[in-house]
Amino acid sequence: MKVLVVGASGYLGGAVCARLERAGHEVIGLSRSGGGPARRTLRGDVTRPALALAGAALEEVRAEVTHIVTAFGSVDWDCGPDTALDLHAAGIRSVLGLARTCDRFTGLVHVSSLLALGRASGRVGNRELYVGQTFRNWYEYGKYVAESLVRAARDVPSTSVRFGPLLGVPPAAGALSARHGLLAVLPPLLQGYPVHLREGGDFPCYAGEVTGAAEVVHRAVETPASGRTWTWFDPADPTLAEVLRALCRPLGRVPRIVDSATVGRLQRLLASRTGTPDALLGYAEPWFDLDPSVLDAVPGGPPRCPAGYLEATGREVFA
Ligand SMILES: NC(=O)c1ccc[n+]([C@@H]2O[C@H](COP(=O)([O-])OP(=O)(O)OC[C@H]3O[C@@H](n4cnc5c(N)ncnc54)[C@H](OP(=O)(O)O)[C@@H]3O)[C@@H](O)[C@H]2O)c1
Repeated sequence: MKVLVVGASGYLGGAVCARLERAGHEVIGLSRSGGGPARRTLRGDVTRPALALAGAALEEVRAEVTHIVTAFGSVDWDCGPDTALDLHAAGIRSVLGLARTCDRFTGLVHVSSLLALGRASGRVGNRELYVGQTFRNWYEYGKYVAESLVRAARDVPSTSVRFGPLLGVPPAAGALSARHGLLAVLPPLLQGYPVHLREGGDFPCYAGEVTGAAEVVHRAVETPASGRTWTWFDPADPTLAEVLRALCRPLGRVPRIVDSATVGRLQRLLASRTGTPDALLGYAEPWFDLDPSVLDAVPGGPPRCPAGYLEATGREVFA
């Protein structure tokens, strides 16, 4: 198979390239910088038609690529509507447009996010996408629109794979960033500020490990596209509080997690002083109720996460 991985220089995209090449697939890694671990890389931009490819590179993609993986766009919970919609949504439109012109195309593997479910109420599974939910931020909405576009494009065979927050040390050095997502809460925790989480954070956050996610993408590439959605997270299903404690452990710190509305209010007021990103405050309440049987839909069973991946993440980021 010849796979175009879009977002190949990123945290997940790099791990996907490494996994696919290890399985013997030919990989073309695409990003604006043209970086990443793939043996073959191209510069491109998903916000432009044909991903800004031209000439021989575009001809090769159209004549030879069998699969496209969408792993572009950062997990930026603070992004505005421009990034969320121009990148996640318009980017998917460009990818779908390109896929329609590829002669040997057999499958799109779209990397979605469980956060596309926003504040869904009631039990949700792989089939649900819009259940009347509201969204905490533009990132969630952008991922929701992107997955909706993939589902609606019935002429492009696809599988969407949903992940929660991914942690762990990726195969390519330097791709792990603590600027976005769950890791952005660590600086105030490490400084000793109390953090309010409803029920003391004793609720699922559906974390997973990055090479496990890359394994799931690899299986999706090798499985005939069915228009279905898969979900994967660490089958051990650590709670949000357990994840935060494990991330802080290598630094010898125990985070001060409390269930206190007063602390929650102070946290909002002092967010800029304590370095707590605004968007993180929205995740202090239980997220949504995900049907645990979603994991059964991953062919071959859900990959396990390597022991100690959360501690390894904390060590890597703050050592
Ligand atoms: N990490 C997670 O916890 C997680 C969980 C669930 C879902 N996801 C999804 O996985 C995807 C990747 O996340 P990540 O954490 O790997 O992000 P990341 O490390 O920031 O990587 C983003 C990648 O997208 C590329 N990119 C950004 N803008 C682009 C553009 N206009 N055209 C082409 N490439 C572009 C970046 O490279 P250049 O800057 O060089 O272009 C980079 O390769 C996102 O769609 C995210 O929603 C991630």
